[in-house]
Amino acid sequence: MAQKIALIPGDGAGIEVMKEAERVLDRVQAKFGVALERESFDFGAERYLKTGVAMPPGQLEVFRKDFDAILFGAVGDPRVPGQVHAREILLGLRFGLDLYVNFRPCRLLDDRLSPLKGKGKKEIDFVVFRENTEGQYNGLGGVFKKGTADELAICEEINTRKGVERLIRAGFAWAKANGRKRVTLGDKSNAIGAHELWLRTFKEVAAEYPMLEATHLYIDALAMQLVLKPEDFDVIVTTNLFGDILTDLGAGLTGGLGIAPSASLNPESTPLFEPVHGSAPDIAGKGLVNPMAMFLTTALMLKELGYDVAALALEKAVEHCVAAGETTRDLGGSKSTSQVTDAVLARL
Ligand SMILES: NC(=O)c1ccc[n+]([C@@H]2O[C@H](COP(=O)([O-])OP(=O)(O)OC[C@H]3O[C@@H](n4cnc5c(N)ncnc54)[C@H](O)[C@@H]3O)[C@@H](O)[C@H]2O)c1
Repeated sequence: MAQKIALIPGDGAGIEVMKEAERVLDRVQAKFGVALERESFDFGAERYLKTGVAMPPGQLEVFRKDFDAILFGAVGDPRVPGQVHAREILLGLRFGLDLYVNFRPCRLLDDRLSPLKGKGKKEIDFVVFRENTEGQYNGLGGVFKKGTADELAICEEINTRKGVERLIRAGFAWAKANGRKRVTLGDKSNAIGAHELWLRTFKEVAAEYPMLEATHLYIDALAMQLVLKPEDFDVIVTTNLFGDILTDLGAGLTGGLGIAPSASLNPESTPLFEPVHGSAPDIAGKGLVNPMAMFLTTALMLKELGYDVAALALEKAVEHCVAAGETTRDLGGSKSTSQVTDAVLARL
């Protein structure tokens, strides 16, 4: 039976890369016996500006019950003040579907793309497990005496035992299942008292995985080590905010946002697959957007749905295009968005 996937292109670059992903999915479905039924949803700025509604009530339940996965482009539009719609859609999906793992592989596909002297494919290959439903991104807090000299702005950070433990467990389980050797915790327990919960939980879960090396670094030191010795990292588990920052650093180490994929996961919910980049208003609509992050994201989705061969073929097609310089200009090539898709399809 076909698995059902929801497509949410979103805004700007999101719409462009989704169009290209659909071309790739057409080919993958025809060639690798992948059975997917696709349905598109027009949640984004255009709809929000017309109707005032970002995502209709009850939609999360529909995604939870009727869909096996969601493939997402990107949201963000300068016409919407405060990006209210983007927050409601993206955080609505991540929080509403309780997708507690933000899974971000950071693998250098070609030595040429490394910004680090002497570090190549062999050294830069790690995965970040970013907590995705807690931390500071919950809207708790507020502003008092706004615009005065006494202004006060407070943002609460949530860390629950349940939330911390399930994220750390997911990191260890994935490391073991995928032949990785080391799990590293990045926190700030030396300065943020609440992070002691992370450190204590990490040690407890690590004790259940004696075959894996468990290391702990304060997040600032971790950021430095990631640049100096990326080969020291296999799997990193960390908070929502730190993971957000670290994964952009990871994107920087592997060729930039044009090539960085991610997935938001909970084995008991409907997974969400999204490139790390946003709607890129500076280049959207000009044929300059790199669709490879979306292709690698699509590969993550195919793998999660059980299509390992198709996922690997798509990953390899992208990797070979990168090696051959068949890329958009952010990776040093001269191809347009759709020409990159042509190249990937040819290799598929
Ligand atoms: N997941 C998401 O939907 C998401 C993520 C980040 C930002 N946003 C939103 O996107 C809008 C723009 O935000 P931003 O500029 O900070 O981040 P961005 O990721 O859209 O762009 C940052 C820089 O990276 C470049 N870039 C991004 N994607 C690229 C691609 N596929 N190929 C080549 N270059 C690419 C852009 O041109 C820009 O210079 C904002 O409204 C923001 O809120 C959405």
